[in-house]
Amino acid sequence: MRKIAIFFVQLLAFQSFAFAQSESPISMTIHADQGKTIINKNIYGHFAEHLGRCIYGGFYVGEDNAKIPNTNGIRNDVVAALKDLNIPNLRWPGGCFADTYHWKNGIGSKNQRPEFVNRWWGGVTEDNSFGTHEFLNMCEMLGAEPYLAANVGSGTVQELIDWVYYVNQEDGSPMSDLRKANGRDEPWHVKFWGVGNEMWGCGGHMRPDHYADIFRQYSTFMTDWSNSDGLFRIASGANVADYNWTETLMKEVPKNIIEGVALHSYSFVEWNDKGSATDFNEAQYFSTMQTALKMKELVEKHSAIMDKYDPEKRIALVVDEWGGWYNVEPGTNPGFLYQQNTMRDAMIAGATLNIFNNHAERVRMANLAQTINVLQAVILTKEEKMILTPTYHVMRMYKVHQNATLLPVEFSNIDYQFGDEKLPALSVSASKNKEGVIHVSLVNIDAYQARLVNLNLMGEKIKAISGEILTSAKLQDHNTFDNPERVKPKEFKDFSNKKDELIVNLPPFSVVVLEMK
Ligand code: AHR
Repeated sequence: MRKIAIFFVQLLAFQSFAFAQSESPISMTIHADQGKTIINKNIYGHFAEHLGRCIYGGFYVGEDNAKIPNTNGIRNDVVAALKDLNIPNLRWPGGCFADTYHWKNGIGSKNQRPEFVNRWWGGVTEDNSFGTHEFLNMCEMLGAEPYLAANVGSGTVQELIDWVYYVNQEDGSPMSDLRKANGRDEPWHVKFWGVGNEMWGCGGHMRPDHYADIFRQYSTFMTDWSNSDGLFRIASGANVADYNWTETLMKEVPKNIIEGVALHSYSFVEWNDKGSATDFNEAQYFSTMQTALKMKELVEKHSAIMDKYDPEKRIALVVDEWGGWYNVEPGTNPGFLYQQNTMRDAMIAGATLNIFNNHAERVRMANLAQTINVLQAVILTKEEKMILTPTYHVMRMYKVHQNATLLPVEFSNIDYQFGDEKLPALSVSASKNKEGVIHVSLVNIDAYQARLVNLNLMGEKIKAISGEILTSAKLQDHNTFDNPERVKPKEFKDFSNKKDELIVNLPPFSVVVLEMK
């Protein structure tokens, strides 16, 4: 009975958002003089699959499109928005799609490229008009490093060797000649390579030992004895908490032929009943955050296994698929994974990026799934219109951490309680950039309770503080094509300096980034 009463009170608070002030302030200390690990900018990577309207209609609208401003078929508005995020790398062409993709069908004259049916995603026919040249040239426009996911599931070793030579070799090989014949003299020098995707599932339903051998074979032939090309070969990694997968790869693959091990983990209400992206209650919000915050445990446990075999931390943990996954928007193709993006997604993004920052020693690359019109997108498009999602704004606010030095933060967390269950309400990470500017990103995931933080900065004298906040009236708030600026960052002023302590008031479900110099 008591549980029902608590739930009812919380439900009311959830709906009316009568924000309550936190009773006891949380003491937080940031050690500004103790940073040693760089937050690799590649943690802020993105993912573009041939899935729904991510590539076609999202990034690419065709060279002949007179309605949507574009450069060589790539939307100008998308390029400008992504450049503003400083996106460091972009993964392509999948996902599950990657293990069905034959890259040679996507080069050369467009009217001679064969069509194919995208069996994984929506069963639609694609014309291969967006291929290797289009993707790699687009990465140059974006200033992002390409991350190519190779077809291992239905491809061959030779097909991958040819792709590496096609994009990376200066000259003197049939593949470099073919590239030149297709209009590109200079190689693109692609460093990041995924060797298959989800090999335990859509990549071929392989067992870990079998995949470890396959990886050894593919990886060996991608470069020479000493990897003088400097390739960064990423093994298809575990599904969520499949620790045996990571253990097997780390044990069975020689360390000189692997540079990264992947991990995929999504946030959801329930995998078999994902619920609406916009119409959710507090119980559903709480469940989503439970799966999102699980990322900390996943990263720590997979890292602990990697530490056993690679104590020098030479091999990176690459979380190359993460984000929220809900039911598609009503009336859209279920295979297109098109979903809206609310303040709930801003909470997932803020908290997850803090986890990655705080584990930057091992997590050196990550890719939000996916950039445009798919899953937890940063951009949604509709014909010539484009909107930025709450997740976009978090990514933009957090870009200050890219390549900055992680600073240790100490605090005792406080609970966000829902019924009998609880989650840590606060999440934080802090960094100092090359100019000595400190940034602190704070997330309060509590659906109805504000939190006061007493922030104590050790080892640095601060002259100026400013901040930005992303929050809204309701957790379900989101941007639409009719109301594109409903959720957007604002200047944050709810802090005061008292006796060398900064008192910060974090509203419920808010993301705040402070700048101190
Ligand atoms: O991101 C959507 C899909 O999720 C990817 O294709 C696959 O790798 C994962 O299961």
